[in-house]
Amino acid sequence: MTAEFEGRTALVTGAARGMGRATAERLLAGGARVAVNDLDADRIQAVADELGPNAFAAPADVSNRAEVDAMAAAVVSQFQRLDILVNNAGIVSPTAFERITEHEWRRVMDVNVNGTFYCTQAAAAHMRAGGGGRIVNFSSTAGKNVSTVGGASYTTSKAAVLGLTRAAAKELAPYGITVNAVCPGMIDTDMLRVAWSEEQIQAYIPSIPLARMGQPAEVAELVCFLASDRAAYITGAAFDITGGELMV
Ligand SMILES: NC(=O)c1ccc[n+]([C@@H]2O[C@H](COP(=O)([O-])OP(=O)(O)OC[C@H]3O[C@@H](n4cnc5c(N)ncnc54)[C@H](O)[C@@H]3O)[C@@H](O)[C@H]2O)c1
Repeated sequence: MTAEFEGRTALVTGAARGMGRATAERLLAGGARVAVNDLDADRIQAVADELGPNAFAAPADVSNRAEVDAMAAAVVSQFQRLDILVNNAGIVSPTAFERITEHEWRRVMDVNVNGTFYCTQAAAAHMRAGGGGRIVNFSSTAGKNVSTVGGASYTTSKAAVLGLTRAAAKELAPYGITVNAVCPGMIDTDMLRVAWSEEQIQAYIPSIPLARMGQPAEVAELVCFLASDRAAYITGAAFDITGGELMV
């Protein structure tokens, strides 16, 4: 049986760790060739080396348009085509509303919103040339409700990702490109563990119906479903993966 992603190429942003890395691993296991992006060139090269010969390091700051365009060109030059984009790179800031500085606000928007826009625009041009594609954006429960871990900048940015997802889905549909979002709840990654202590996590877990954190690999399964042929009729949608924390 042919592997699900055999012959497909993917770009996963923020793939040095956490859900980005888990998604890259799952795509590679499904037979894709995967460009793994992150900020630090040496670190992402080391990750690509660990992931094996079908992984390709694509360092860039997703909030920098010139770096994103150069990255997309390098990925297409390496793979000749681009079929799947996973906009996973993101940052969180917990600062209380009244103390958020303009710099901090702009940085969160730059990475979470503008980065998703730049990567989507760059990738869509190549996908269109290739006859179609799949784009999966990372929003959050924060995008539909309000963040438990992050502050107003994070909640606002993740709500914006949902708007971007819908708008891009509508405009890119004629080219065979689907655009969907995932909205994870509390997932066990460095992002969460840097923001919250073990005590805070344990105190919060009883409020989650499934009474545990999610694992990065569980989110990767949802992302890879949306990136697959099985999701051909799904676009402009946002999927909760929260252990029941968010039910709407
Ligand atoms: N962990 C959670 O509970 C949770 C819940 C909901 C949504 N999310 C979202 O899921 C995504 C992945 O989160 P995670 O928990 O795996 O985070 P993480 O912090 O463990 O990993 C994020 C990766 O993105 C990279 N990155 C940050 N800024 C970047 C930039 N400008 N350019 C390129 N790479 C950059 C980081 O270096 C890091 O390797 C994020 O968008 C996050 O907002 C996380």
